[in-house]
Amino acid sequence: MSAAVALAAGGIALAVISSAIAEASGGAHTEAASIISDRCTVCHGDNGDGQGPSAASMNPRPINFHDPKWQKSVSDQTIAKAIVYGGSAVGVSAAMPANPDLVNQPNVVAAIVKQIRAWGN
Ligand code: HEC
Repeated sequence: MSAAVALAAGGIALAVISSAIAEASGGAHTEAASIISDRCTVCHGDNGDGQGPSAASMNPRPINFHDPKWQKSVSDQTIAKAIVYGGSAVGVSAAMPANPDLVNQPNVVAAIVKQIRAWGN
């Protein structure tokens, strides 16, 4: 086995272990909560009601995640796609920004989707 292959294998094992740790410690959930408060609440509001400080001047307004009609109209997959690729990827306003750094963090995206669904209950 060459050094490069050994290194690559070591890297993969490390990634698997750290993602398992993140799962066990609720890391994805914690990460999701901090991403939501850092990147989403400015528009979607602290409690997901669509009334963040930047919302008033926007047209269309950011989605109110408590709206049952909206909740029924979207799949989890569409929500995840909107988060990673932005509003234009799912046919809503392009003012909804993309988060390309989350493309390789499906556990974190799933935890964000879960929080958005929780606001609908
Ligand atoms: C700059 C303001 C802004 C920020 C920041 C923002 N959004 Fe949005 N979001 C919007 C707007 C505007 C829409 C689209 C409203 C429309 O077209 O009806 C939207 C739509 C959405 C939708 C609905 C997609 C659909 O298919 O209906 C989801 C889900 C969403 N945002 C999640 C998030 C999450 C999660 C974050 C943080 C990672 C975030 N947004 C950050 C403004 C924002």
